[in-house]
Amino acid sequence: MIKLICRKTEKEASLAAANVMADVVRNNPTAVIGLATGSSPINMYKELIRMCSAGEISFKNVKSVNLDEYVGLSPDHDQSYAYFMNENLFKHIDIDKANTNLPSGLAADPAAECKRYDDVIASMGGVDIQLLGIGNNGHIGFNEPDDHFSKTTILVDLTDSTIDANARFFASRDLVPTRAISMGIGQIMAAKKVLLVAFGKGKADILEKAVFGPVTPAVPASILQFFHGEVIICADEDALSVIREKHPDALC
Ligand code: GLP
Repeated sequence: MIKLICRKTEKEASLAAANVMADVVRNNPTAVIGLATGSSPINMYKELIRMCSAGEISFKNVKSVNLDEYVGLSPDHDQSYAYFMNENLFKHIDIDKANTNLPSGLAADPAAECKRYDDVIASMGGVDIQLLGIGNNGHIGFNEPDDHFSKTTILVDLTDSTIDANARFFASRDLVPTRAISMGIGQIMAAKKVLLVAFGKGKADILEKAVFGPVTPAVPASILQFFHGEVIICADEDALSVIREKHPDALC
């Protein structure tokens, strides 16, 4: 079941998302949380940092597993997802860094790294909540549009549209890595709960396709329509504008 939480602004929707994540951690202090990068989760992470500093939540016994990492970037590269997680969340909260996991972008053998990451995910015994953003082309993690849904961790060739979209974070487009390692769709679908955050007009079309369009690997996020449990989407008015226009009853 997909539950749409609509807030006027990105900030308000991010607070709602932070509360969903915080509830999972408060109810289960040893929860396994699946984390995401990109610009969308940043405000949500800021609120989790605030909650942690205020003593409203603790990540002391939480384990985390991230969705993806660029191939070729070291953890100290300022555009690596390891660096992002450290700067935007881990170093500001009480999580034990030893309990945080990301694929390694520097593995000499990326295929072996995919296998290692499958083992890491399996060893967690289940992800309690998986946070997702959504790419402009409907990707989740780095699962790009394809003719099938990936089951396990995969080595991905990024599409031109994703490279274009992510070029804004790099000094030039040719510095954007062309490959990534991503948790598979099957592993995302195995989480107990999914929390997706999406903001801005640029996400409005793809969000409508993901939630109401045909379920197809051409729009990877559309598989969430078949999720076994609750998918909570926290979005602002802009990101929900096409849904509001085409499916007004779906929104509060
Ligand atoms: C990136 C990440 C995704 C993220 C997406 C959207 O490529 N791999 O996990 O959800 O792009 O990014 P943003 O939130 O910046 O729009």
